[in-house]
Amino acid sequence: VDDSFLQCISSHSQNHSKTISEFVLAKNTSAYSSVFQSSVRNLRFLNTSTTKPEFIITPFNESHIQAAIVCAKAYDMQIRIRSGGHDYEGLSYVSEEKFVLIDLVNLRSISIDIEKENAWVESGATLGEFYYKIAEKSNVYGFPAGSCPTVGVGGHISGGGFGTIFRKKSMGEDLFWAIRGGGGASFGVIFSWKVRLVQIPPSVTVFKVAKTLEQGASKLLQKWQRIGDKLPEDLFLHAATEVVNASSNNNKTIRVSFDSLYLGEAGKLVPVSQQANPQNFCLTGQLNSRASSKQNQIMLRNPFQKPDWKGYTKSFLSRDIRTDLDTLWRKDEPDSGLRNTIPSQKRKIYKIQYMVTWDKEEETEQHLRWMRSLYSYMAPYVSKSPRAAYLNYRDLDLGRNKNGNTSFAQASVWGLKYFKNNFKRLVKVKTETDPSNFFRNEQSIPVP
Ligand code: FDA
Repeated sequence: VDDSFLQCISSHSQNHSKTISEFVLAKNTSAYSSVFQSSVRNLRFLNTSTTKPEFIITPFNESHIQAAIVCAKAYDMQIRIRSGGHDYEGLSYVSEEKFVLIDLVNLRSISIDIEKENAWVESGATLGEFYYKIAEKSNVYGFPAGSCPTVGVGGHISGGGFGTIFRKKSMGEDLFWAIRGGGGASFGVIFSWKVRLVQIPPSVTVFKVAKTLEQGASKLLQKWQRIGDKLPEDLFLHAATEVVNASSNNNKTIRVSFDSLYLGEAGKLVPVSQQANPQNFCLTGQLNSRASSKQNQIMLRNPFQKPDWKGYTKSFLSRDIRTDLDTLWRKDEPDSGLRNTIPSQKRKIYKIQYMVTWDKEEETEQHLRWMRSLYSYMAPYVSKSPRAAYLNYRDLDLGRNKNGNTSFAQASVWGLKYFKNNFKRLVKVKTETDPSNFFRNEQSIPVP
């Protein structure tokens, strides 16, 4: 199979300046493991029981991707598509079926056109690389996407994308609509994106305020819920809760920090904020103005770096978060504990992410159990019918397609949670685009 598969790839590839061994790695090649591991972000999926790809293809151009698809089909293998590898359930590099991994690590070129206010960015680039390139060209433009610089452009944009200037974003039509929130992997391999840049002022202001429970953090969080949607669009305010001292359950410090980005100078933020909130929320914190270009830090994907965390994440969306926060934060948990509960707010919808990380393999089941119990505990306080979730915070507990195939009714169990009424429209687009359901995974849009 190896030889004939390689021949298939070779005969369908159009650019012959690259030899096949430069972009197709079989299991017995020396670079296979390091390339596979290079962007496995979650160590949970690096164990020996995880099925590994038959081949890793790292395309340099479109024809390499086309060849990978044609030949995977011909040899009855599935494909997985990986850009930055940040999928929380590892769906970009883990599969129950025999598969080929298309890793877009070599497709990361970025070209910025400031005059036209747009940019072309290839899917394998990271958000950090993209922000940095924009900042190199101009300090008055940006792109509204996530805050983690190692996240890949490919998965991130196709699954939505929340970040410090996401309040400046809008949407479009059909297939293009579908791949900007519906998950690209259900529809094909996205080579590159043409995106519109947004204008930002030359100076922005950031501030951070941190309070422990003893200092009234819960009250402050409730106040944040009340005023968040009234703040001007240029102000992003996000809250993170973490256990900073988890030596024992009775003796731990729980801290809520509010991080903010304001698109303007500190002098303007103070009156704006006072107007929105007479109680002067958070402005007891330190205000820093700094040049926006300096805020864009670069963090490149090192193809041979070690994976960096083992974690488990769940999310939910809600119209209101009403709970006894003090009880929630102190909820029993395994040793390393709750690390990040991050509500972000747009209008009157809250997005909360809970995350737990750990170091020891043998603790995995214990942490997964704890996270599932936290998820159940929160049920009364969040959105119902459906209990909504954010696709980019993938969660296979919501439901999964068996061997990639499933009925519309079965897929609706998880599909309505991510997409609500848009799920039906996504199924229609999928049916038109990929009727044979070749592009599939455990949570891909089904063909009815
Ligand atoms: P990855 O390569 O794993 O792809 C994710 C999914 O998209 C997979 O199903 C994959 O097959 C598919 N895909 C990838 N490239 C594709 C392509 N070119 N064509 C078709 N399908 C493709 N989110 C957020 O909104 N704001 C944030 O600030 C953060 N921060 C953050 C930090 C960290 C540490 C992690 C682990 C995750 C986040 N996220 C996030 C979530 C992140 O947006 C989400 O996991 C993205 O899908 C990751 O995109 P990658 O390309 O890195 O992942």
